[in-house]
Amino acid sequence: MLITDLNQLQALESWSTRKTKAVCVNVIQETHDVKTFQFRAEPQHLFHFKPGQFIGIQLEIDGEKHNRSYTIASSPTRPHLLDLTIKLDPAGSVSPWLHANISIGSELELRGPAGRFNCFDIQSEKVLLISAGSGITPMMSMARFWCDQAADKNIQFLNWARSTQDIIFRREIGLLDHQYHQFAAEVILTQPGLSENWLGRRGRINATTLSDMVPDLNERTVFCCGPDGFMAQVKSCLAELGFDMANYHDETFDPGGKKKAKVAALKAEAEKTVTAETKGPFQLTFKKTGKIVDVEANEILLERIEAEGIAIESACRAGNCGACQVKKLTGETKSANEIGLHEDRRDEGYILTCTTHIESDVELDI
Ligand SMILES: Cc1cc2nc3c(=O)[nH]c(=O)nc-3n(C[C@H](O)[C@H](O)[C@H](O)COP(=O)(O)OP(=O)(O)OC[C@H]3O[C@@H](n4cnc5c(N)ncnc54)[C@H](O)[C@@H]3O)c2cc1C
Ligand code: FES
Repeated sequence: MLITDLNQLQALESWSTRKTKAVCVNVIQETHDVKTFQFRAEPQHLFHFKPGQFIGIQLEIDGEKHNRSYTIASSPTRPHLLDLTIKLDPAGSVSPWLHANISIGSELELRGPAGRFNCFDIQSEKVLLISAGSGITPMMSMARFWCDQAADKNIQFLNWARSTQDIIFRREIGLLDHQYHQFAAEVILTQPGLSENWLGRRGRINATTLSDMVPDLNERTVFCCGPDGFMAQVKSCLAELGFDMANYHDETFDPGGKKKAKVAALKAEAEKTVTAETKGPFQLTFKKTGKIVDVEANEILLERIEAEGIAIESACRAGNCGACQVKKLTGETKSANEIGLHEDRRDEGYILTCTTHIESDVELDI
């Protein structure tokens, strides 16, 4: 529906459900392998979220179910549309499918929003947004949000890309830099081609370049997102420069096999804390489906819920993002990491299933 008067505009409600049907209304080819898909909610309502948060999607491709998370690249100051900017991983299952199959009129079910990596939960007046590749998406959401409000913030925006053909949002970054005095951006290329005539900085991140580009680094809160290798390099540069890591925040997109390694480590942690009394098996009751199953104490709840075919969101699978939270109605559980769970949700009885094992009979509100 195209809004044509003030009454229609004022009547629009906010995004309040955990699941939203969304229709693709525009596709933008950002680079040779990155597309932005713009969605409108159906029925139409406003997308309210914290800049930096992500949504979950579940797709069935050739009979196989896949869950993926994508950061909302747009800003809640423009709440009528929601942008997902997605890099095609040629070896992946979902991103090539999305690039080939999502076009104007396609429908998707969005779950969320979720995630603690956002500029509402982490507040600061002076920030460094540092990203590489598709890790630029949460930074763009925050930058667009602050610039749309002419916020009194000091924002330094650094983005690493391989070549000029790989710079995502190149024109918009230039425009924000030009229009907002509080926003300063620099793009650095690791492999500019000889014919590219790149006059900007080049090379991988190192401590000398970083302190050169950001002389007041130690006064800033750092938001970092990109490939795991890039984030490891950023952290080591910051350590070398004596940066207080309490002011460092990152988000991993973790597309490779590292999730499995994390879950294995969490399982091993759970096994260490199991005693004769807490060994199980215990009864796990799913209130909404009425299902009751026997569960060993060392089983990670999220894996068991998925194995039972019960729909549940997940993303980081390490207790950091909050996507997999469910309400526990009764019983004892233990979590290896609950950073992604807000205190008020914890007080209401929510747990993060990806880092939790059970220590008695438990009933969940799913
Ligand atoms: C919080 C969050 C936010 C995110 N936001 C964005 C975003 O804004 N934009 C974006 O583009 N991405 C984002 N991602 C990443 C996204 O969720 C997907 O991981 C990404 O699109 C790749 O998915 P895929 O299904 O195409 O690849 P997958 O099928 O997951 O494969 C990924 C890689 O794993 C390897 N692999 C897969 N299967 C095997 C196998 N059997 N053996 C060996 N190797 C294998 C392949 O090398 C492949 O390159 C985000 C992730 C998270 C967690
Ligand atoms: S999946 Fe991120 S906290 Fe569980």
